Amino acid sequence: MRWANRHTHRWQAEAEWGHPPPPEWFDHYVGLHYMGDAQRHNIAEERGVFASLAVPIGGRVLDLCCGDGFYARHFYANRAEKVVAVDFDADAIHYAKRVNAAPNVSYELRDVRESLPDGQFDTIVWSGAIEHFTAAEVTAILEGVRSRLVARGGVLAGDTIAAGDSVNSHLIHHELEYRDEDDLRHTLEQVFPAVAVWRSEWPSRTELYFYAAQESTAIPLGFASGAHVREKISD
Ligand SMILES: C[S@@+](CC[C@H](N)C(=O)[O-])C[C@H]1O[C@@H](n2cnc3c(N)ncnc32)[C@H](O)[C@@H]1O
Repeated sequence: MRWANRHTHRWQAEAEWGHPPPPEWFDHYVGLHYMGDAQRHNIAEERGVFASLAVPIGGRVLDLCCGDGFYARHFYANRAEKVVAVDFDADAIHYAKRVNAAPNVSYELRDVRESLPDGQFDTIVWSGAIEHFTAAEVTAILEGVRSRLVARGGVLAGDTIAAGDSVNSHLIHHELEYRDEDDLRHTLEQVFPAVAVWRSEWPSRTELYFYAAQESTAIPLGFASGAHVREKISD
């Protein structure tokens, strides 16, 4: 069975990635059952764990640029009261509704450059997607995120591939990749006073993770006390 599982997912990976253009989103089961092993990393699980640490039990979650909905269903919905997951790709939303439906997850077709869903959220996740936007778009989206996070305890959680040194960087969909922790932190600090950024290195690529909030006490676990947090008083 393991042989069949690996090979069916390899065939799916080759069908989706084997010819240009590369997909802007993909089925994470391909990553779990084939690509993560082939590229020698477990970033799919790592990303889900770090983002879900920012989801309180019974919390309200907004998942920006949700792709196939894998994280909404498998990492946020089982802790949250409700998850609103948005993407501007109609095929992604259709796929997410089909393969990653859950009673407390609602999928919405939405371009986050134009608007974000109304409401207040305990956690907003922007996973594997900040690099798909220009600097001006990122700033505008971060402003929208700030206004939708609950003032006390609200957290933005996310991750992005580090620029330049990996097999998957420089995908055509990437508008702006971040070189290192300082580069990404500088962007987030334009809008959030408390920012934690750290890196995770794998043989094939490096991932940058972030939490951002109005106050450092909202940053999960020990990340607030680490060297990568700076407090800055906004105007
Ligand atoms: C690399 S995928 C990441 C998907 C998912 N967050 C994950 O981690 O698997 C990037 C996603 O961003 C979405 N996206 C890009 N630009 C967008 C926009 N302006 N509004 C909403 N979604 C967007 C794409 O459709 C794609 O699903």
